[in-house]
Amino acid sequence: MRGLPVTTGLGEIAVGASRVEVADKAMINARADVNQLLPLKYRWAWEKYLAACNNHWMPTEVSMQADISLWKSRDGLTEDERMMLKRNLGFFATAESLVANNIVLAVYRQLTNPECRQYLLRQAFEEAVHTHTFQYICTSLGLDEGELFNMYREVPSISDKDAWALKYTQHLEDPDFRTGTPDSDTAFLRDLIAFYVVFEGMWFYTGFAQILSLGRRNKMVGIAEQYQYILRDESIHLNFGIDCINQIKQENPHLWTARFQAEVRQMLTEACELEVAYGRATMPNGMLGLTADLCEQYMHFITDRRAEQIGLAPIFGETRNPFGWMSEVMDLKKEKNFFETRVIEYQSSSGLSWD
Ligand SMILES: [Fe+2]
Ligand SMILES: [Fe+2]
Repeated sequence: MRGLPVTTGLGEIAVGASRVEVADKAMINARADVNQLLPLKYRWAWEKYLAACNNHWMPTEVSMQADISLWKSRDGLTEDERMMLKRNLGFFATAESLVANNIVLAVYRQLTNPECRQYLLRQAFEEAVHTHTFQYICTSLGLDEGELFNMYREVPSISDKDAWALKYTQHLEDPDFRTGTPDSDTAFLRDLIAFYVVFEGMWFYTGFAQILSLGRRNKMVGIAEQYQYILRDESIHLNFGIDCINQIKQENPHLWTARFQAEVRQMLTEACELEVAYGRATMPNGMLGLTADLCEQYMHFITDRRAEQIGLAPIFGETRNPFGWMSEVMDLKKEKNFFETRVIEYQSSSGLSWD
């Protein structure tokens, strides 16, 4: 049995094999049985799983009444705000499914560590909750579901982004794809970068800024609250992805060549350009306090931050974040009323003490 690439967890049971030791565990190409969670090796993965469980929420817990009446009132929103909102929802409505598919059909199979897989299972469920959110918003506001869910095929600034990311996961879709060579290990790293760093770590952020900016002006407050929950989930998804990438680099330093680093910088540069184009297409005239130019500056800032997080030098040298208020929204502990009631409720039920 030893020597066979039994890394999926579905191979024959190795009866009588020696017990799993922490030193045998690895992010990719592990020799250790992937079905045994303990002993833990990557505490950061387990802790993210616990943090994610503590953040449980459902979109239907958020009232949509104020949003419905604003959406239906004739002059509650400007035409520019309506277009931004629809395109924003149109991007997210299918983006959540693309991300979920990548986790379940590509990443899970290649990541040979049970604590990371435990987190992936939780993340997959959260992506389902996020897709549910867009179903709920669509139904509540009475939006045209065909229009919303086809935007990724019909609106160029959305399909350009999705097509860019899909090519990295399509490479892994081949049933014979296996990590284990420098080329295939690098292809897997590329997919992690395309989805965790770019898709969830860069492309969601213009969308978050757009909706949360509306929310700050007391418009579409139900959707804005849902986006805050999504943002809270997504910041853990991003950090999990960054930790995975850095751990794989550390365990396989031969993959992180100067050539590959240059390629990753190019990927981030292209991804940033696609996002800037999306910002312009969703807000050709800008809105109060939010313009496509500011979104461009914000995306340069975010791109540099992501580059640094995976050990690369900044690409744009943008040190100013034009949406400083986003950091406050993201740092939930600073928020006074936000989440306060329900987070306490959840913690008291999930963190019951029996002694
Ligand atoms: Fe998501
Ligand atoms: Fe996500």
